[in-house]
Amino acid sequence: MNILVLGGAGYIGSHTVYALIEAGQNVVIADNLLTGFEQAVHPKAKFYKGDIRDRAFLDALFAKEHIDVVIHFAACSLVGESVTQPLKYYDNNLCGTKVLLEAMVKAGVDKIVFSSTAATYGEPKRVPILEDDPTEPTNPYGETKLSMEKMFKWVGAAHGIRYVSLRYFNACGAHESGEIGEAHNPESHLIPLILQVPNGKREFISIFGDDYPTKDGTCVRDYIHVTDLAQAHILAAQYLMAGGESDIFNLGNGVGFTVKEVVDVARAVTGHPIPARVEPRRAGDPAQLIASSEKAKTVLGWNPQHASLEEIIASAWKWHSTHPNGYGK
Ligand code: UFG
Repeated sequence: MNILVLGGAGYIGSHTVYALIEAGQNVVIADNLLTGFEQAVHPKAKFYKGDIRDRAFLDALFAKEHIDVVIHFAACSLVGESVTQPLKYYDNNLCGTKVLLEAMVKAGVDKIVFSSTAATYGEPKRVPILEDDPTEPTNPYGETKLSMEKMFKWVGAAHGIRYVSLRYFNACGAHESGEIGEAHNPESHLIPLILQVPNGKREFISIFGDDYPTKDGTCVRDYIHVTDLAQAHILAAQYLMAGGESDIFNLGNGVGFTVKEVVDVARAVTGHPIPARVEPRRAGDPAQLIASSEKAKTVLGWNPQHASLEEIIASAWKWHSTHPNGYGK
């Protein structure tokens, strides 16, 4: 397959590129490098620096490269930032996708896999969450991702584009090589923040709320290894190549861990005491998010290989302990 990976220098994008190249596929990357890193670009991928909101850039790219499937990661993804800067999210996530779809229609590229999120559900009515459960996002990030899904639905119906939307739960971990991993600026995700403590960059981890209706009072999340997410993208691209219909899939392990449990596993993995302090709740955090991924398993044949939280955190630690400043010096 000839695959165009938009946002292939970002966290999940770079891991998917590594997996595609390991699987022998031809990969072209486009990334504006605003949140992605040149060092995360796989040396065997062809790289174009550019922005999906730039129609001339996309037209030139599609004219030059023969593309079978687009995998679209190029979006802003910080929940807190989306609340304070919603227009940035509408511009990059929605306007960017509109320009991309215009360019795909013109170029006759008719298959796309794209990143969606558990944030499309908002506060779930039940767990595990199924794909046809109500979608009521509680922040602009989730809202723009849900709107992207709807844009694909209507544009796909009108112009014959087939899509797979992958709703990730909590992406974490790093490539087994230790060459690429998670690097956000600012960092807001639990596991990289915890690992800043044994790395000497933070004195303690804050636990945002211990009065939720969960077994130890802290929030429950479904942590899914980024390498397993990467495999789902390959399967989704193959599914579309084989003529599969447009569809939406949850991607998680179906097992929830509390914040305290994650901290405990990080203590065991790193051998560091990792002091923790309970602080007030963070606005907008649902008490529990756990996926049902039965549909991805049945329809795509997805089979996550790295479900153990110990293994996930060990892989993250391999990356963070050797790259305490991410891709920086
Ligand atoms: N948390 C802490 N302390 C911290 C950081 C996080 O206690 O310093 C807690 C949060 O309150 C939450 C849990 O750890 O309960 C996980 O938080 P993350 O920020 O790592 O992840 P979220 O569950 O908030 O967000 C993830 C993805 C988003 C996606 C969202 C879906 O990162 O992209 O799931 O709701 F939108």
